[in-house]
Amino acid sequence: MAIWNLGSINIDHVYRVRHLPQPGETLTADSHSMGQGGKGANQAVAAARAGANVTHLGAVGRDGLWTLERLAAAGVETGRVAVLDLPTGHANIYVDDAAENVIVILRGANWGFAIDAVAAALAEAGPGDTLLLQNETAHQVAAARLARARGMRVVYSAAPFELAAVEAILPFVTTLALNAGEAAELTRALGCPLETVPVPELLITRGAEGAELIDTATGARLAQPAFRVVPVDTTGAGDCFAGSFAATRDLGAAPAEALRFAAAAAAIQVTRPGAGDAMPARDEVLAFLAEQAGSGATDR
Ligand code: RIB
Repeated sequence: MAIWNLGSINIDHVYRVRHLPQPGETLTADSHSMGQGGKGANQAVAAARAGANVTHLGAVGRDGLWTLERLAAAGVETGRVAVLDLPTGHANIYVDDAAENVIVILRGANWGFAIDAVAAALAEAGPGDTLLLQNETAHQVAAARLARARGMRVVYSAAPFELAAVEAILPFVTTLALNAGEAAELTRALGCPLETVPVPELLITRGAEGAELIDTATGARLAQPAFRVVPVDTTGAGDCFAGSFAATRDLGAAPAEALRFAAAAAAIQVTRPGAGDAMPARDEVLAFLAEQAGSGATDR
């Protein structure tokens, strides 16, 4: 099986600040760093490091060719990423002492590419493959429609959350990934409880409160507690969870095993600075899980 990841690629500018900026406030950052980000690219790296065969679809500008080298070094196939005469998408990220963040993105090349390359790539995908998406690129609905027509799974992470984008893609999604805030916003807008959101499977991440997988056909719920760690930067934790979960399922794991693996991967990822660059390798996650079992520690 394989994962086809239609996703944003951003250059992340990360500023460490003592507290997140308030309206009208000018803040001096303690440090600045630059790294590979973009919710889509982060998911691709997480999935590849988790062991899946991942092909990235999307676009960068010439200023972002180095991000493709980073993705390739993580094991992501980048040969189908378009290089455009547009700036690469970028993000300004403020991370405070509590490891929380505020992010502002500029779309750049992530919205400048044509559907043709995506359609040509998906023409090579088959039933059982996964299309992994988030809400930071053009052509999400068209790609999801093509993928479903080919019998693929469609895992959509509704981040950054936009109600209209979720409603448009929902008919073609097999797993909808949301954080707790996004889930509340969606159920409020649709006027229905989570269990009746019209999608086969819901993956809800709740940070330190863990995660949950809901099968809407049967109403079955699987809960995965979060692992206790001391976070330094939570940027990309949701991307890590979604990418690791999609990869583990793609590799044939049962849902409970995929949830546990993804929770462990995200727990490791938040202990490191950065987004895509902080995604753990499969062996690290397995060692972490073995350590948890060996120490008698329980998930939370
Ligand atoms: O989810 C974190 C990501 O959001 C960052 O890497 C940034 O690029 C934005 O897309």
